[in-house]
Amino acid sequence: MEIKGRKAEVLIKEKDIKEKVKELAERISRDFEGKDILVVGILKGSFIFMADLVRELKGKVYIDFMQVSSYNTSMESSGEVIFVKDLAQDIRGKNVLIVDDIIDTGRTLKALVEALKQREPSVLKTCVLLDKKERREVDFDADYVGFVIPDKFVIGYGLDWAEEGRNLKDIYCII
Ligand code: IMP
Ligand code: MG
Repeated sequence: MEIKGRKAEVLIKEKDIKEKVKELAERISRDFEGKDILVVGILKGSFIFMADLVRELKGKVYIDFMQVSSYNTSMESSGEVIFVKDLAQDIRGKNVLIVDDIIDTGRTLKALVEALKQREPSVLKTCVLLDKKERREVDFDADYVGFVIPDKFVIGYGLDWAEEGRNLKDIYCII
């Protein structure tokens, strides 16, 4: 496959993503047993992962979205996190699961968690499909991680390269 004149190869196949999503949903359902879950998707990258994940969750599930921006220059992030869209509801006393596509430097999720904690939810957990562990710049890890991946730029299954590639069914890395 080619994207923007660069070669891309499959890193994680659709079938393996499906299996992993089920596995994550089972763990989350178990941990949140008997509790309503408010799943907060971080736009835009999480939209496909979140759609698949919520359909595998047991119990009562609510959804909401937030959008953050980090002054990206396509493949590199500046590290500064700006809140573009906030939640449409109060989360005090709620059981919140933040869902994002990928944790890279960790700045986005760390800033989000710090901001949402101030609003005193009852539970606040984080879930990411992908984790570029070796790229971490701040002390933060997600509670639920699908795949730890190498330091390569990835697209597909919601993840983009300058808005391209989100609709790919597999996850590809640019080589
Ligand atoms: P962090 O704040 O550095 O952890 O960045 C997380 C955000 O950067 C993710 O939500 C993605 O939007 C974006 N990102 C990081 N790595 C990639 C990648 O390989 N492909 C696409 N987006 C990425
Ligand atoms: Mg994102």
